Amino acid sequence: MKIIKQIEELRSIIRAWRKEGLTVGLVPTMGYLHEGHKSLIVKAVSENDRVVVSDFVNPTQFGVNEDLSSYPRDIERDAALCQEAGASLIFHPEPEEMYFRDNCTFVDMDGLTKGLCGMTRPTHFRGVCTVVSKLFHIVTPDKAYFGEKDAQQLAVIRRMVRDLNFGITIVGCPIVREKDGLAMSSRNTYLNTEERKAALILHKSLMLGEKMMKAGERDAEIIKAAMVKNMETEPLARIDYVEIVDAETLENVVKIEKPVLTATAVYIGKTRLIDNFGFEL
Ligand code: PAF
Repeated sequence: MKIIKQIEELRSIIRAWRKEGLTVGLVPTMGYLHEGHKSLIVKAVSENDRVVVSDFVNPTQFGVNEDLSSYPRDIERDAALCQEAGASLIFHPEPEEMYFRDNCTFVDMDGLTKGLCGMTRPTHFRGVCTVVSKLFHIVTPDKAYFGEKDAQQLAVIRRMVRDLNFGITIVGCPIVREKDGLAMSSRNTYLNTEERKAALILHKSLMLGEKMMKAGERDAEIIKAAMVKNMETEPLARIDYVEIVDAETLENVVKIEKPVLTATAVYIGKTRLIDNFGFEL
């Protein structure tokens, strides 16, 4: 698997592909790839002539006390997974290649980025929008692939692409889960055995919420209260948020009358995990 570290080298490869009239898909990742990432790559391979996987732990999306230095990294393993999934190359730049030391330009967004994860991670989406914009400018893909586990990120990127006229098709891909229901995440690797068991509470509570909606409950407060109560049965869990929001605007919903996103973030020990489900009437 070809690992490209320089922006200019990648640009010249992409120029050559374009000369041949080939289409290009991009799968942006922060590496430490798992089956969830693999499903994005496989989908991208099925829809594009060439697929670039970016593998970059983006410093600007981490807050000061977050896990930038401990975030798991393993480029050899990532390369093997990309090869197996049929990617064309990995773009794996150093932070200095992506950001000038005196970088002072960022892409920021109001509205959609303020609630949910934006409450406890106020600079996170500025970092995500900035790096994804940079990747879009470098790779100039026809299509880019993102997981629905990061539902707020997906909504934010769709909006950014619309607002800034990127002209790139954003493809959202379903959450991939472990056999017992835990959503796959590179951060699951932080969990010890006891925490790994406790982490199932996210999926269990979401399933409870979904069951209530399917049974006809439309009062968001009643559903959230039941989910919170359920989460509180797990002593290792500390809730960051449990919210039911409009699937498009991400604004809080009182009565469920339109498609909604039910999203949660929970600390299991020191590890912050997120999960969600969408519900359409
Ligand atoms: O979802 C992620 O892994 C990251 O937020 C992304 C989109 C690759 C940007 O760094």
